[in-house]
Amino acid sequence: MQRQPIQMPRPRLKSGVSFEKVLGERRSVKEYSSEALTIENVSQLLWAAQGVTRPEGWRTAPSAGATFPLELYLVAGNVNGLAQGLYRYRADQHKLIQLGNKDLRADLAAAALGQEWMKESAIIIVIAAGPDADRRPIAIK
Ligand SMILES: Cc1cc2nc3c(=O)[nH]c(=O)nc-3n(C[C@H](O)[C@H](O)[C@H](O)COP(=O)(O)O)c2cc1C
Repeated sequence: MQRQPIQMPRPRLKSGVSFEKVLGERRSVKEYSSEALTIENVSQLLWAAQGVTRPEGWRTAPSAGATFPLELYLVAGNVNGLAQGLYRYRADQHKLIQLGNKDLRADLAAAALGQEWMKESAIIIVIAAGPDADRRPIAIK
């Protein structure tokens, strides 16, 4: 198992797709390609969900009272260059900390009352809340 924190590649901050188009076309899907995700894909998703964007600790997602209690856990199943297992996303450092090396997708599908489609996803991002969420941010610009 990887003991050292894994630095994620810097997120892409420009795109050719407008925010309005993204909103207009977004849909929840429950059928997935069997293609692996890249580390860049994972980095972009984690950053979009909870990435730190200012030295003071402000993030991509707002937070009541700027307490930022949300933490992300990554269940990696099919990512090129990243071993299967459970990771915690350190938003303040844009790093992954490996916590386990078991593929937990089937366990999560069972915990979600048998939603079998979850097993077919390349990754699952688990959102947890806690009072001690990462507080020493390093901004990614
Ligand atoms: C907090 C949250 C939890 C959800 N949980 C589930 C779930 O457990 N199973 C599921 O099939 N869809 C789940 N969904 C997806 C919703 O069913 C979906 O967003 C809704 O049907 C609207 O469709 P749309 O996302 O394509 O607009 C969840 C959505 C949110 C926001």
